[in-house]
Amino acid sequence: MLAAYAAGADPADPLSALRVGDIDPPEVPADWVQVNVRAAALNRHDVWSLRGVGLAAERLPMILGCDAAGVTDDGREVIIYAVINDPDFVGSDATYDPARSLLSERYPGVFCTQVRVPPANLVDKPAELSFAEAACLPTAWLTAYRMLFTQSGALPGDTVLIQGAGGGVATALILLARAAGLRVWVTSRDEARRARAVDLGAHQAFPTGARLPERVDAVLESVGAATWSHSINVLKPGGTVVICGATSGDNPAKAELTKIFFKPLRVIGSTMGTRAELISLTRMLITTGVRPLIDRTLPLADAAAGFAAMINGDVFGKIIFEP
Ligand SMILES: NC(=O)c1ccc[n+]([C@@H]2O[C@H](COP(=O)([O-])OP(=O)(O)OC[C@H]3O[C@@H](n4cnc5c(N)ncnc54)[C@H](OP(=O)(O)O)[C@@H]3O)[C@@H](O)[C@H]2O)c1
Repeated sequence: MLAAYAAGADPADPLSALRVGDIDPPEVPADWVQVNVRAAALNRHDVWSLRGVGLAAERLPMILGCDAAGVTDDGREVIIYAVINDPDFVGSDATYDPARSLLSERYPGVFCTQVRVPPANLVDKPAELSFAEAACLPTAWLTAYRMLFTQSGALPGDTVLIQGAGGGVATALILLARAAGLRVWVTSRDEARRARAVDLGAHQAFPTGARLPERVDAVLESVGAATWSHSINVLKPGGTVVICGATSGDNPAKAELTKIFFKPLRVIGSTMGTRAELISLTRMLITTGVRPLIDRTLPLADAAAGFAAMINGDVFGKIIFEP
């Protein structure tokens, strides 16, 4: 079966650990359901895996990819929910399961022609969404949805700052926040990307680290070390920073502890979302007309070009692979 998989791990040169070619379909539990993949979406998570972050050496080779949409053997059009819970996990929020994994961490991922997943991980794909649009949702878009609507406490009319303009999470945040009636401010290191963020729906875009016209109600943070102090400094007293990632590193020069307790601020970690939130997200897209921003669509056989673009920061929106 054709797949894009990690054959090793290289923190400095992740692309050298990527293989695109034939691989035997891996073993999974017998009751898992086969999905014929129509579209899959690349995430920063897949680059972390090639760097050896979150993917143990004994699990190699590992088919990459968390996010896909496709068709089951009996013709059901589905989105694959990417969080795999421990069968013994008890609780309503899948992200609180300490033994959870994402597809491609413990079980094979979706950058392949056919993937098998637990039946409970299938969500009906609404006819209004293309397979490519649906494939964008389970990681970047679900994470953005939960950050904004479950975690941030921001209400329509409030001002939110989104750090970074072009990532999958950031573009999802811009589109969702705008559709929800928030005032949307964005930062980017690059003038052209700031202009694209405004075209996409941000009310204003600022250079990374810039002084803002006024303090904001919430910051949506996925950049990490490079923007952490700014995120803390720009919040109103009582404001909230929601953090889901740390692309620039997780060791900021200052932790800003004094400002966090004195202002006082809320710091909320957020990861992925629940299956119910994924369904709510699909409904929001249908009712608002908002659709994921797709940067480019590539044949799965050309997956290396998509990985290279993400590693080089040459992405605005989501990269889709079609088997
Ligand atoms: N916890 C979860 O469930 C979850 C889910 C999805 C993603 N994540 C994490 O969230 C992060 C974002 O992922 P992504 O795929 O959306 O995008 P990404 O490609 O990792 O992020 C790119 C963004 O980061 C900004 N950026 C990168 N390096 C920077 C630096 N040194 N200084 C300032 N800005 C910098 C870029 O902004 P400009 O180039 O415009 O300046 C760009 O918008 C990743 O670390 C990912 O692993 C976590």
